[in-house]
Amino acid sequence: MGTADSDMVFQSYGRCCNDEQFFVDFYDRFMGSSAEIRALFADTDMRQQRHLLRNGIMQLVLHARGMADTKLRALGQSHSRNGYNIRPEWYRLWLDALMATLRQHDRAFSDEVEAAWRRAIGAGIALIRDAY
Ligand code: HEM
Repeated sequence: MGTADSDMVFQSYGRCCNDEQFFVDFYDRFMGSSAEIRALFADTDMRQQRHLLRNGIMQLVLHARGMADTKLRALGQSHSRNGYNIRPEWYRLWLDALMATLRQHDRAFSDEVEAAWRRAIGAGIALIRDAY
């Protein structure tokens, strides 16, 4: 993962992350991918959750740009078997929902931008997932 990837990702996210509907569409898609996942958010204040996720994705992008991994480690703990008990295989659905929502909202999306996203945030997602 190089600077070119992280620049492309930063700009792509900038075209999406100020639109609340981006996060509405992400969670509709993500929850639509599994009844088990939908159940995890049954008691969640989704308005608040959308703001938390906006920041969480920013943390993944910043990590790709070399920022310390303290915030991602904390997410690894909260999502682990001692926390929300988020099973490692669910992260693939999360990433697929994110890519589909980016494709929908980012007017400059392309296979190249998607590949840059996958390379840039893969390590950060693995860090959270592997804290299970
Ligand atoms: C790498 C991908 C992910 C990121 C960046 C992320 C980000 C976040 C953030 C920032 C929070 C709020 C802070 C916290 O409670 O620690 C949160 C909460 C949560 N996340 Fe994730 N998450 C990811 C993957 C997942 C997956 C795959 C699932 C489920 C299959 C999931 C389910 C939850 C749940 C259930 C909560 C708590 C909701 C509540 O407070 O009611 N997350 N996530």
